[in-house]
Order: sequence, then C-alpha cells, then structure tokens
Amino acid sequence: MKVLILAGGSGTRLWPLSREGYPKQFIKLLESKTSLFQETFKRSLLLADITEIYVITNKRYKFIVMGEVEELGYDYNELNILVEPDVKNTLPAIYHGVHRIQKSCNDSIIVFPSDQVIQNGQEFVNIIKASESLTNDSIITFGIKPNGPNTGYGYISPGEKISNGFLVKEFKEKPDYDTALSYIAEGYVWNSGIFLFNSLFFSNEVKKHSSNIYDAFELSTDINEVYLNIEKGISIDYGIMEKTDRVVVVPVDIGWNDLGSFDSFYEVFDRDAADNIVNKESILIESRNNLIHSNNQKAIAVIGVNDLIVIDNKDALLICQKDQSQRVKDVVKILNDNN
Ligand code: GDD
Ligand code: MG
Repeated sequence: MKVLILAGGSGTRLWPLSREGYPKQFIKLLESKTSLFQETFKRSLLLADITEIYVITNKRYKFIVMGEVEELGYDYNELNILVEPDVKNTLPAIYHGVHRIQKSCNDSIIVFPSDQVIQNGQEFVNIIKASESLTNDSIITFGIKPNGPNTGYGYISPGEKISNGFLVKEFKEKPDYDTALSYIAEGYVWNSGIFLFNSLFFSNEVKKHSSNIYDAFELSTDINEVYLNIEKGISIDYGIMEKTDRVVVVPVDIGWNDLGSFDSFYEVFDRDAADNIVNKESILIESRNNLIHSNNQKAIAVIGVNDLIVIDNKDALLICQKDQSQRVKDVVKILNDNN
C-alpha cells in the first residue's frame, strides 16, 4: 500500500496561529510536541515503508515538509515530496500522486489529509488494512458519526451492507444547514476526508468524471504546464465522490476531529476544572469555558470572562466569542482584500 499525504491547504479558520506561509498542519498546537502533519506521517509509517509515503504540497511548503520529517528523525527522499506550482484544490493534488505511482505499479493508495487529529491511530490502521480487499471496484471512504449539522463536511448515505462497510447511496459535499439537518435525521455519516482506492481504478474514474485533469497530466510531463492546463481547480469531493456510483463507506470510531476551527479545540484538548483550555502561564479569575493561547513571552490575564477565545500571536491578536470561530476566515479575507 502507498500513502499520499495532502499538505497543501492554508487553514484560514485558525488565524492567527495558521498563516498562509505557515498553515495549520505544520503548527505545534498548544503544548503539543508534534504538528498535525508529523502525527499524520507517523500514522502513515504504520501502514507503509517510508519510501512508499508521498507528500503533496505547494512548492512554498516543500522545505517545511522536509524539516518536519527530519525533526521526527527520518531521512526522507526529496523526490517523495510532490510539489504543486499553483493551488488547484485536492483532486489535481491527489491525481498528481496517483499518476506518479501508477507509472511504476498498480497498487492500493490511502490518501490522508494532514489537518486532522485521530486519537486511535493503530485501530484505524487495522481497519484500513482490513478494507483493502474492497478496492477492486470501489473507492473506500471512512464514515464518522455526526455530532451536529456541520456544513463544512461531506455527507454520506450508507446503503446495502458489504463486507465491513456499506455501499454508498449518495455522497453530498458541504450541504446547506437545513439539508445537513435532514441528512442527520436520515442516518447519513460525515466523510472523514480519508480515501482508499486502487490506483488504476481511481485513474479511470478521473478520466470518466474529470477528463480535463486527466488529459492535463497526459499532455505534458512538466508540472508547471500540467497545472496551467487544468482549467479549474476542484476538490476530490465535488470532482469524483459526488459523481461516481462506486463508493463504499466503512464507519469508524477512532477519535477523529478535523480541528477545522477553534471551537473544535474544546473536543480535543484537555480542559481545567473551570473548563478553560489554557497554555503558558495565564491568569484566570472567575472565568469559565475560555480558550487562551499565547505564543509570546507574555502572560494573559482575564477576569470575569466566559466563553471567549483569545489567541495572541507575535503580530496579531484574536478575540472571538466562542461559537463564532467559523467566522475567523472572514478576517483573513478582509486582510487579503486590504493587501
Ligand atoms: N496538496 C494540496 N493542494 N493539498 C491541499 C489543497 C491543495 O490545493 N487544498 C487542500 N489541501 C489539503 C489540506 O491541507 C487538507 O490536509 C486536505 O487537503 C483537505 O482539504 P480541506 O480544504 O481541509 O478540505 P475540507 O476540510 O474543507 O473538506 C474535506 O475534509 C472534510 C473532513 O475534514 C472534504 O473531504 C469533506 O468531505 C470532509 O468531510
Ligand atoms: Mg479540512
């Protein structure tokens, strides 16, 4: 089995921790010793030899990737880092990896995003291995039990039972709120964003459903030209998963969280007795349910404050009401528009 790690996104909802030049997958969050990318890489090593792990990222992050793998104590072949000259979303990125692997062999491939927390990594790896036999004629997805009508995820409707999974009746990427609500009532699960497939099978699906991307890779060996020939960037979710009728979903309970916004930190990181998540030496008096994070040599004190997110970085300070952190991406948009 080969592993493709996607590490090219920018993660704007974790601003100001996450920056365009240094996106969230590479940050060591709170007191963590490793980044989400490094955790993903370590999990990949449970499935494949280091020579069979590929990272696909934007050219500007190549050296961050190299440094992160070296920091884990491994020698990594630079040629296993596939760089993209432009941002065209996840389908071209994934197909870049598949195309490269398919040149030398036909094998199963697992695609990992690098922006997720998975608490039961070994258990998940066992499930992936057990699901490999389903890749003959399907793309395998891993389904997460929803905890609310989150509109940032793909929704999957499980049908007839097959082996350790279910044939998929419908895959719908990022539905609106009301549709998400009705999907939950109908028993849909969230798409974890992790995909398992056979390389040849997947190439044929790309040819069928996103021929412009397929052709771009056939027409040139120069990746700059390939990316210029891709008319419009698209995610695997819209470009393949919504269109193909050959999907199986394997439900998993693996302590999964995509840390999409600061609100999701409350589901992942330890809280103190007053439900605060605090790093460094901050002082909290009669304050509950706050997330206080400082990246500076600076103490933060809050008094009589509840449900607040305070993120203090070198050149930016975020103060945000809890439950509003999805809107942090609007700040990044305004900053970008002003520049
Ligand atoms: N190389 C590369 N190039 N990587 C990219 C690019 C790109 O252009 N765009 C995004 N990525 C990486 C991100 O860094 C992340 O690790 C992964 O691909 C997924 O991209 P996101 O942008 O985070 O996707 P999403 O969270 O909106 O949605 C996906 O994940 C959800 C679960 O977290 C979808 O697959 C949803 O269906 C799914 O529910
Ligand atoms: Mg994501």
